[in-house]
Amino acid sequence: MIKAVRGTRDLLPPETALWNFVEAAVRDVFRAYNFQEIRTPIFEETALFARGVGEETDIVAKEMYTWEDRARAASEKGQSLTLRPENTAGVVRAYIEHKLWDRGLNKLYYIGPQFRRERPQKGRYRQFYQIGAEVIGPPSAGSESPARDAEVLEMLATLLDRVGIADWNLELNSVGTPADRAAFNEALRTALEPVKEKMCGDCQRRAVTNPLRVFDCKVPGDQPIIETLPRITQFLGEDSRKHFDAVQEILTKVGVRFSLNDRLVRGLDYYTRTAFEFTHGALGAQNAILGGGRYDGLSEALGGPAAPGIGFAIGEDRLVMSLKETAEGVLRKPDVYVAPMAGMNGESARLARELRRHDLVVELGDEGFRLKKSFEAATKAGAKYILIVGENEVKADAFAVKNLATGEQVSVPRAELARRIQG
Ligand code: HAM
Repeated sequence: MIKAVRGTRDLLPPETALWNFVEAAVRDVFRAYNFQEIRTPIFEETALFARGVGEETDIVAKEMYTWEDRARAASEKGQSLTLRPENTAGVVRAYIEHKLWDRGLNKLYYIGPQFRRERPQKGRYRQFYQIGAEVIGPPSAGSESPARDAEVLEMLATLLDRVGIADWNLELNSVGTPADRAAFNEALRTALEPVKEKMCGDCQRRAVTNPLRVFDCKVPGDQPIIETLPRITQFLGEDSRKHFDAVQEILTKVGVRFSLNDRLVRGLDYYTRTAFEFTHGALGAQNAILGGGRYDGLSEALGGPAAPGIGFAIGEDRLVMSLKETAEGVLRKPDVYVAPMAGMNGESARLARELRRHDLVVELGDEGFRLKKSFEAATKAGAKYILIVGENEVKADAFAVKNLATGEQVSVPRAELARRIQG
């Protein structure tokens, strides 16, 4: 038997109702902040991620699905392509390619699958879904302002509250400017020199090439060493510090709670200044529901104009997982099961069509079913009412409607059916 590939999964009803509920809430909340949707391809040139996310990150070094796409015609070149492991690089590529600043498009969101070859476990998949948003624009449009950081964070707090996740924690840090980070990396390199031999292979490599990435290490034996390392906070320049203070000040003013975490450096190289994660206790080891931050140099790194930005991506799989308990509340069961008697498929279809036009959820049976089987099917579907369509009913233009919970049955004229069932 062929099964879904390791790390991928089928999303089945009734859980898909929860996904739809989340996505509807997202579209609603994001609209209030004037975000518009962008859809970028799920594969891109490999170089986009190597340059955007960073060669030395776990994502690029170990986790990408990359292949050589052969040329199929003389007019085409073979090229290295990659399934997107994240969407920020793609959005910034599109921003540059279509000169989105000229169209005043500076707040974009996306919903879609991403791909990383990680070790699958609870809350971690090889195909997973992200809901993300990016605020990006020329510095003259205020895209560097701490007001944008705070607005994005406040929007996230609003969204999580709205979908019913109350016990989230916002962890906040500043990873500084590239200059701040150069000083920090130097200090880390020095601090790591005498101890790196005792660390895992990845950390020994990172200690030389990109010391900051040591903070991504999950190896338990390395943690006591990492605890003793200097922190980025000690290396923030005046500008970074002021920016970070301003973000915190606005958050406090609007009443969004947060805690500072000076170990938080995020696993992607493009971040500058504000970096954050929202975590949720019920999720276990993979407890980050979402992560994000500023990436003021990304556009330039990809060959575009100066375009500071800030954004985030929610792990939709994890968000839905932390919501599961409320699944019952968002499921819409059929309002009515229409049960045709012998020869009544046509009349029943006509009636179902009318009822559905009134925005009712209708499950339509079959004239081949005996009445007992129709009742069983209606109960199994969770319908509120069963409506019986027989020759007599059609002649009288009035139908037997039975409430499946109470057993109460009434005859209702056709014209009043929809109102009766809605009530
Ligand atoms: P990230 O932290 O790599 O950031 O991913 C964001 C979120 O995606 C994580 O917090 C997690 O919830 C979810 N996620 C990541 N990997 C997996 C996985 N294998 N299975 C399930 N969920 C996963 C980014 O991707 C950045 N592009 C976010 C961003 C946008 N920064 C600025 N703008």
